[in-house]
Amino acid sequence: MREMSTFQSGQRVHLVDKKGRQYALTLKAGDRFQHSGETVPHDDLIGQPDGTMVRLSGGKTMMALSPTLAEYTLKMPRGAQVLYPKDIAMILMWADVYPGASVFEAGVGSAALTLGLLRAVGDRGQVVSYERREDFARTAMKNIERFLGPVANFHLVQRDAHDGIGWEVEGTPHVFDRVILDLPEPWNVVPHVPAVLRTGGIYLSFVPTVPQVVRTVEALQRTRAFGLIETFETLVRHWNIDGRSVRPDLRMIAHSGFLTVARRMEKGEAPATVPGDESESEVPVFDGG
Ligand SMILES: C[S@@+](CC[C@H](N)C(=O)[O-])C[C@H]1O[C@@H](n2cnc3c(N)ncnc32)[C@H](O)[C@@H]1O
Repeated sequence: MREMSTFQSGQRVHLVDKKGRQYALTLKAGDRFQHSGETVPHDDLIGQPDGTMVRLSGGKTMMALSPTLAEYTLKMPRGAQVLYPKDIAMILMWADVYPGASVFEAGVGSAALTLGLLRAVGDRGQVVSYERREDFARTAMKNIERFLGPVANFHLVQRDAHDGIGWEVEGTPHVFDRVILDLPEPWNVVPHVPAVLRTGGIYLSFVPTVPQVVRTVEALQRTRAFGLIETFETLVRHWNIDGRSVRPDLRMIAHSGFLTVARRMEKGEAPATVPGDESESEVPVFDGG
C-alpha cells in the first residue's frame, strides 16, 4: 500500500458521515464530491492529513479517511461478488499465507481476496491468479493498482482453471505453497492441484452452498493427495454499545459460504484425525464436584 502522510491527487479516499456511512472518491484536482445536494471540492482534501474533517457546502461535516483494505474492498467497483472481510481474514490465517509465499488463486472476480493475498505475501512472495472473464480481469487489475500501485509480483492470467492450472518460470513448472479457489465448481480444479502444490502446502476453497462443499470434499478425498481436510464457516456478530442499549446489532451477514482447507501430502492414506475430534477430548469436563 502506498503510505502517504497527506492526501494526494489520484488517491482513493473515503468520506464518512455521522452515521458511519462511507462514500468513496478518487481525488482529482478541480473535481467536486457531491452528496445529497451538498458538495466539497477535492482541492479542500488534497494536501490534508488522513483523518481530517471536511465541511460540505451545506454545513455538514465528514471525516476523510484513507480506507483500510476491508473498507476499500467493500466500496471498490465490482464485476463479481467480492468475498467479505470476515472470510478473507479467515482465509489468510487458515491458509497460513506468509511473507514470501507463492500462491495460486482462481477466480479473481473483483480482486478483494487477491488484494489480501498480495499484502500477506509481501514483496518477496508472489500471486498467480486465473480469471476466465476478460471484463472481470480488467476491473480486478484496476482495483489492485488503485490500492497498491503497480505490482511486479502479481500475474493475472485469463484462463479457465477447469482446463488445468499452473505457471511456468523460464520453461520450468512452478510449485506453489498455497492454492486458493473462489469459483463455483472447485471440484473441477481439485484434480489439477496435486501437480502444482508442494507437499505440506495448503489448499483452501470457498463455496456458498452445501452441495458445492460436499462435491469439493469428495473430490479432495478422491485424489488421495490431501489430509487434514476440514470445513467451517465464519460468523461475525457486531454489537451496539450505546448507553444502556448494549446488544447485538439487529442485522448481520448470517451466511456467506463454507471454507474448506486441506494439507497436501504424499499420496497414500490420509491421517485419520479430524481436528474437531482431537480437540474434543481436550475439553475440560466439569462434573459438578
Ligand atoms: C465469486 S467470484 C471471486 C471473487 C473474488 N474472490 C473477490 O473476492 O473479489 C468468482 C470468479 O471466478 C471466476 N471463475 C468462475 N469459474 C472459473 C474458472 N473455471 N476459471 C477461472 N475463473 C473462473 C468468475 O468469472 C468470477 O470472477
